[in-house]
Order: sequence, then C-alpha cells, then structure tokens
Amino acid sequence: MSENSMIEVRHICKEFVSAKKYPGLKGAFKGLISREKTHKLAVDDISFTIKEGEIVGYIGSNGAGKSTTIKMMTGILTPTKGTCLVNGIDPCRNRKKNAQNIGVVFGQRTQLWWDLPLSESFTILKEIYNVSDKDYEERMEFLNRVLGLEEFFAQPVRNLSLGQRMRADLGAALLHNPPVLYLDEPTIGLDLVVKDNIRAAIKEINEKYHTTVILTTHDIEDIEELCSRILIIDQGKLIYDGSLTDLKERYGTRRKVVMEVQDTEQAKRLPLNEYLGVAKDAYETQADQDSSTITISFDKNHLQVSDVIEQMMRHTQVKDIKIFETELAEIVKAIYKHSA
Ligand SMILES: Nc1ncnc2c1ncn2[C@@H]1O[C@H](COP(=O)(O)OP(=O)(O)OP(=O)(O)O)[C@@H](O)[C@H]1O
Ligand SMILES: [Mg+2]
Repeated sequence: MSENSMIEVRHICKEFVSAKKYPGLKGAFKGLISREKTHKLAVDDISFTIKEGEIVGYIGSNGAGKSTTIKMMTGILTPTKGTCLVNGIDPCRNRKKNAQNIGVVFGQRTQLWWDLPLSESFTILKEIYNVSDKDYEERMEFLNRVLGLEEFFAQPVRNLSLGQRMRADLGAALLHNPPVLYLDEPTIGLDLVVKDNIRAAIKEINEKYHTTVILTTHDIEDIEELCSRILIIDQGKLIYDGSLTDLKERYGTRRKVVMEVQDTEQAKRLPLNEYLGVAKDAYETQADQDSSTITISFDKNHLQVSDVIEQMMRHTQVKDIKIFETELAEIVKAIYKHSA
C-alpha cells in the first residue's frame, strides 16, 4: 500500500448469480426446476484509493452498487475479481483482524441486540473487541458527549426511536475506536435536528481521531457538510472521483441572477443580447410580476455575471440582486440522468 493510504480498491468486481425467476405461480415451479441463471454485475471494475483521515462520499442512484462495494470492503462479501486492502489487510481473507480496524453502520438495519438494553449491547461489544476498562470509560464519555447516549442507555434497543437507534448504532460502531468507519445511509429517515447531531458527531470523530470515513447517502446535504471528495457510481461503474469543488466547477456552470426591478415588463423587453453582443439564446429571461423580479439564467462560460448585472443596471432600475449557482442536488441529478 502506498504511504498514507488507508483503503486501496483495485479493479474490484462483484457478480451475483441467482436462479432465473419466472412470473406467476407456474413460473415459481418452473424456477425451481430450471437451471437457468441470471447474472448481475453489481460492481464493475472499480478502483480507488482513500487516504487516512479522508471523509469520502460514495453516491449513486438506487441499485448502483454502493452497498455491495461497502460489503466487500467490510469482508461481508467476497469480490468476484479484483483486490481490496483496508489498513493493509484483505478484509475477506482476514475477517477477524479486519473487524478490529473497522466500524460499520447500515442505516437500514441495526447491528445491536434487539431485546437487550443498549447498555448490555455495549458491554458485549466491549468484550468482543477486547476494549480495556480504562479505554471503555474514556470512549463512553466521549461517545456520550457527542451522541447523547445516556438518555436512553437503559432501554431495550427495540424501544428506541429511529434517531436514538441510529445514534446508538454509530456509538456501537465506534466503541473500539476503529481507524475506518463505513456509514451506509446513516441519516436515512432522521429529522433535521438528529441529522445535524449525527453530522456533527461524524465531523468531531474525524477531526479528533483522524478516522477515515466512507459515507453513502441520498442526502446531498450530508455530502455538502461532510465530504471534500466524492465518488459517483452508476450501474456498477465509477463515473466520477474528485473534489466537490471540481464537480461544481465542471458541471455546475449555470448561473441565475435574480433582480428585483421597478418595472418587470420593461426589464424583460430590454435587448440584453445587443448590449452584451451575444446571441439571443445565450441566456433565458423570466419575469415574475408578483414578486417584481426578473430572472436571467445562463452558462458562466458564455456570459459573465458582472456584465449581465452591469447592463441591466444601466438600462433599468434595479432594487436588489441575488446570484445563484447550480445546486449540488441538481448537478447530481443531471449526472444520474445522463448516465442512465
Ligand atoms: N445478494 C444479492 N443477490 C443478487 N443481486 C443482488 C444482491 N445484492 C445486491 N444485488 C443487486 O446488485 C445491485 C446493486 O445493489 P446495491 O445494494 O449495491 O445498490 P445500492 O447502490 O446500495 O442501492 P441503494 O441506494 O438502493 O441502497 C442491485 O441491482 C441489486 O439488486
Ligand atoms: Mg444501498
């Protein structure tokens, strides 16, 4: 492994082979005796390296192959082809050693003991991971402060609310202070306050312990708040690996200037293209009489925001100006659609 890299994934593939299914009751019987198989290449030749201390967002539409990749990195699934090293260890060949290195939260289901009080789940995990009394005390103090576990520590897991359960799961994944943390949709279904708490906790854990975090999510705010780098997967293939800033720079070139004006009709009729010396289709104009605003949208590679504002101010009375960049959610949506 190269210096500083915590995770190295090389040409990893996962193919699922299952019995072919036929529709209806007759089909179910046919399925039982048929030898026909369906092959699904869920992860298709993916390579990436993640450095120690990075928080990387792993995103893609439903069924893209995110959870399958995470499962291979945790050692739950064996890759069909390719290799994976986590902190120098092959997670499949050395599951026990790997377990000490990783913490995992699958937002969709708990890893805790359903019928036991949360406190007992933590005691069991302490034994499983061989955490010393001193470390346990220190760790619990920290986890309790960032996740507020005390409030429901004595309750059975099955009685916890979703938000409490997610905080408990995150705490449990971190009890042994693993250098790598996998979070598969850790904010799914949570209210805004709990989402904020979870994000703040992830940030603090990453800063304090330099924990490497891989996060899959459908919540773009998770990405904006936590990740400096993202990987985008589509139909099993890695289609983007880079910084969030580069992604916005590359795909988020639309700009929207919203101006509050004295007279929307007059502003809309202005021959802005002549003032700017560009074709009429270089921008779009929309007037909203109710809010006395006019919105001009364009690509920043073809027109400059400052020129548009200057010309508008020269030819009409502008009271207020707001400038909008393309939102990350729109960029991501466009990428998913484009590759579909
Ligand atoms: N055990 C399995 N057997 C057969 N096919 C599977 C299995 N697990 C996953 N798949 C298929 O592999 C593909 C990728 O699934 P995966 O769970 O990795 O997607 P995902 O990106 O996590 O999606 P989501 O956002 O919905 O969680 C899907 O088409 C899924 O149906
Ligand atoms: Mg998934």
